[in-house]
Amino acid sequence: MHLGLIGYGNIARTLIGMVVRENVPLSGATVLCRPGAADETRTRLAEDFPGRGVVVSETQALIARRPDLVVECAGHDGVRQHATAVLKAGIEAIIVSTGSLADQSLHDAVMQAARAGSTRFILPAGAIGGIDILSALQMSGIEAVTYTARKPPLAWKDTPAAALHDLDSLATETVLFSGNAREAATQYSKNANVAATLALAGLGFENTNVRLIADPAVRSNVHEYSVRASAADFTMRIEGKPSPDNPKTSVATVYSVAREIFNRCREQAI
Ligand SMILES: NC(=O)c1ccc[n+]([C@@H]2O[C@H](COP(=O)([O-])OP(=O)(O)OC[C@H]3O[C@@H](n4cnc5c(N)ncnc54)[C@H](O)[C@@H]3O)[C@@H](O)[C@H]2O)c1
Repeated sequence: MHLGLIGYGNIARTLIGMVVRENVPLSGATVLCRPGAADETRTRLAEDFPGRGVVVSETQALIARRPDLVVECAGHDGVRQHATAVLKAGIEAIIVSTGSLADQSLHDAVMQAARAGSTRFILPAGAIGGIDILSALQMSGIEAVTYTARKPPLAWKDTPAAALHDLDSLATETVLFSGNAREAATQYSKNANVAATLALAGLGFENTNVRLIADPAVRSNVHEYSVRASAADFTMRIEGKPSPDNPKTSVATVYSVAREIFNRCREQAI
């Protein structure tokens, strides 16, 4: 299988490291980076995946290499700039930055592009689990979904919270945001992918309740959510260990994406 990657940061590099460690049968990888980042990306990819990686900096160049599967791991701009063209070209894509789909016009465009390309896009469970039962319960009728994200104060750097609180010296648990998933994904785009994933699987962006908390007492990214539905009520709590290279991203996210890729490689190998 030939893998396409949009972005070559923490998730992409960790993924390639896993491919090498697990000896996953990838024939090659094409990385689409930002214009201007090609040289640096080439050096990194050559270290991580010697002889099997190519770096491009334009969407059409990625498409021209005809990867079997493209994984977006670049953030909201990566989805906005590249996802529709990739899907229209008939290439299946995993969208990791699920929060980008809180923009309804982008969500519509991505759906339309997948239809036009007769392909599909996959939203991985990412940092959490339980998406299977949440999604299934839609058929029974869901009454409420309430999600709380609790992360160490420094995980909220580069978010609107940094202008409102001194995150370096925060001594007590502080609620940074309380509202619905659309507002959370829009205002806290770098920290609200889980809120978006829950909204997309369950009650939608307007009806999913979200609280974002900076808590100096925690060392992990704690995701907790409760669902009340006709067929079942449940609560999930996942303590995701932060990635060493990007504390905003739980390492579990990479495993969730790796599972999607590795399963496809194994299907192709059968
Ligand atoms: N679904 C989930 O549960 C979940 C969890 C964590 C992170 N995420 C998403 O995954 C994204 C990547 O996470 P990460 O830890 O690897 O971040 P990162 O910042 O380490 O890496 C992102 C990479 O993408 C590149 N990039 C940015 N914009 C680009 C563009 N328009 N085109 C090409 N490349 C571009 C950056 O230069 C960087 O190399 C996050 O931004 C977040 O949106 C989702």
